[in-house]
Parts: sequence; C-alpha cells; structure tokens
Amino acid sequence: ISGRVSDRLGRPLRDLRISVTDRCNFRCTYCMPKEIFGKDHPFLPHASLLTFEEITRIARLFITHGVQKIRLTGGEPLLRKNIEVLIGQLAALRTLDGKPLDLTLTTNGSILARKAKALKAAGLQRVTVSLDGMDDAVFRSMNDVDFPVADVLAGIEAARAAGLGPIKVNMVVKRGTNEREILPMARHFRGTGIVLRFIEYMDVGATNGWRMDEVLPSSAVVQLLRTELPLVPLEPTAPGETAERWGYADASGRHDPQLGEIGVISSVTHAFCGSCNRARLSTEGKLFLCLFASRGYDLRGLLRGDATDEEIASTIGRIWQGRSDRYSELRSTMAPDAAGGARHIEMSYIGG
Ligand code: GTP
Ligand code: 5AD
Ligand code: SF4
Ligand code: SF4
Repeated sequence: ISGRVSDRLGRPLRDLRISVTDRCNFRCTYCMPKEIFGKDHPFLPHASLLTFEEITRIARLFITHGVQKIRLTGGEPLLRKNIEVLIGQLAALRTLDGKPLDLTLTTNGSILARKAKALKAAGLQRVTVSLDGMDDAVFRSMNDVDFPVADVLAGIEAARAAGLGPIKVNMVVKRGTNEREILPMARHFRGTGIVLRFIEYMDVGATNGWRMDEVLPSSAVVQLLRTELPLVPLEPTAPGETAERWGYADASGRHDPQLGEIGVISSVTHAFCGSCNRARLSTEGKLFLCLFASRGYDLRGLLRGDATDEEIASTIGRIWQGRSDRYSELRSTMAPDAAGGARHIEMSYIGG
C-alpha cells in the first residue's frame, strides 16, 4: 500500500500530530492533576523516546500517504532538548505536491519568549499557545504551578515578533472555573490578528475527573460573546478543521478582517469525527487513530528492527485503511457521564 489512503469511513490521512515528550512544567487540573502526576510519576525513560532521526523518518513515510500538516505536541514540546534540530529536519520535508509542510506546534508558552527566534530560524511556521484566562489568580490556579499570565503573554508577543504566525490561542473553558474569563480574553485578542479559540472541556484520559456539568457548550460561549461583540459565521478554511469560525462584525454587520475572528472547538456538543483526518504518534512511537483510542500500534519496533521504508509505509497505510474510530460522535449516544469513566490514553501522553 502506497500513496494517498482513506480509512473505512472514507477519511483521508492529512494531519500528523507528533508528541515529543510526555513531560510538562504545568499541572493543569484538567490535564495533569498533581495527585496523579506527582514527583514520583513514572514518565517515559529516555531510551524509549523516538530519536529525531526516527521521528523524521516516520514523518517522511506518513507524507507518502498524503500528510500535509505536522503539529508537534507534548506534554510541553519545548521541553524536549534541542527541539529546533527536529524542526529543522521536518522543515526540509516536502508534501506529495512538492510543497513545504504546514509545520506548527502547540505550547503552553512558558518558555516561548526564550525560544521563539530559534524556532522560527529552524523553519517552524506558526504556533498555537494555550491560555485559560486573563485573570492571574484564575490562570495560576488552573495551571496549578502558580505560573503568571504575563509570562505567557510575553511568549505570544515574542512569537509574533519572530514572525511565527498566524498565531492561535487555545482556551479550555470549564464551567464554574473560568467562564468569567471568556469576555476578557475576547476583548484582549480582538483586533490583534491572533485567533482565540474556545475549547469545550473534554473527557480525555482517565485522571481529570471529567463531568458533563463542567462542560460549557460552545453555543453558550458564542451567545455570551454576542451580548457585547457582534459575530458572523465564517466558512471553514480547511477540510476536517477542528474549529468552527466566527468573524467579528463591523457596524453594518459584515465581517471586519481588521477585528479578526474567533473559533469554537465543540468536541462534546458537536462532534467533528466525520471529517477527522488526524493521526497521532506518541513519544514512544505508537500510532493512535483517535484522541480517545485505548490502544496504539507500535511503530518503534519496526523502526528499530530491520524493516525497510516500504514495509513501514505499507504498515501505516494498512492501519489507516482499517480505521473506523469516531469516539466523539459515539459519546453523544452514551449515557451522560458514562463516557468520563471509559479508559483512554492521557492528554499529556498524546498531546491533544
Ligand atoms: P489548527 O491547525 O490551528 O486548526 O489546530 P488544531 O485545532 O488542529 O490543534 P490544537 O492542538 O490547537 O487543538 C485544539 C483543541 O482541539 C485541543 O483541545 C485538542 O485536543 C482538540 N483536538 C484537536 N484535534 C482533535 C481531534 O481530532 N478530536 C478531538 N476530539 N479533539 C481534537
Ligand atoms: N479538554 C479540552 N482541551 C484540553 N487540552 C488539554 N486537556 C484538555 C481537555 N481535557 C488542550 C490544551 C491545549 C490543547 C492541545 O489541548 O489546553 O491547548
Ligand atoms: Fe501541560 Fe498543556 Fe497539559 Fe497544561 S494542558 S498540563 S500545559 S500539557
Ligand atoms: Fe478524530 Fe477521534 Fe477526535 Fe473524532 S474523537 S475527531 S475520530 S480524534
């Protein structure tokens, strides 16, 4: 099996999310709660991580099946030593159409101010930064390591100055925790060229104690924003996109590009599995077909054995062709809260 592939639901393979570390310097309560991810938590040992050469080889083989976009994730990807070396290797790859990849990274922004220039120089195109509120007390308690908002904003500013754009900011919305931050975040980023995205709190992993009543539906977010900031729906920009786009409107009710746009990611109330073209590669080289999968397919064994490129590429193609995952769509048919009890891989392991 070589060339472009589709899965059992007709979905092509377009997007590869590569987790480069399972460690993070934050302990966001919805992702790495301190009780579970404490001092003696068994993170992956160094020898089990894919090397940069292994990651680049795998990425090249995924590209032979039609991958056009690669996103580095974690944990916190900027904690991986010499990450700019990996970025340089990936930036040299070309898609089947001979174009550069859409090469990006999702970061908590904590060390972005220090790294932005080097990342850009290595060939990174853009970044997405997570930030859950403008209020310092709220943000410090959500990241649970007392990390200040100002340092993340400095990271975003450094990324902008370095030309890492368009920049997106991700805000996970938890009802009762940070919903009061929705409007301040929107006011702050409106007109800056930065795209703010509100994410429904998801039942990923098995440790965050997810409950449906802590999910604030995106429809409520949009309704709240509209009380103060007029919005108009925008067309999707890419097939299989996670976010539904809304543009800020001018006085005549038309989208004003100067004011920019927001996005809502509604994995809980409005699943988008039907067009999901994303494969996920874990830090230790397992291929996962869904964010909510409970098992992955080991590719590291093939890389470290004597498998040829053709053999590995055809294994990847076969696995993708067998894919029928659509967890978020199925969840909506489950009893409320039954979903939260299911056994999934952790967000910090697979990178979202
Ligand atoms: P863009 O390329 O900027 O559109 O990024 P993205 O939205 O694909 O990725 P990002 O890492 O910014 O993820 C935003 C949110 O969407 C995170 O909470 C992810 O966990 C979630 N997300 C990304 N892909 C999927 C997916 O395939 N399924 C589900 N359920 N959630 C996803
Ligand atoms: N639900 C929704 N989004 C989450 N993220 C981490 N955990 C969750 C969750 N339980 C977000 C991070 C980051 C992105 C990759 O996923 O904040 O922005
Ligand atoms: Fe770290 Fe991101 Fe998880 Fe927060 S959400 S603990 S920043 S990996
Ligand atoms: Fe894709 Fe799984 Fe997310 Fe659905 S739940 S969009 S199949 S990763």
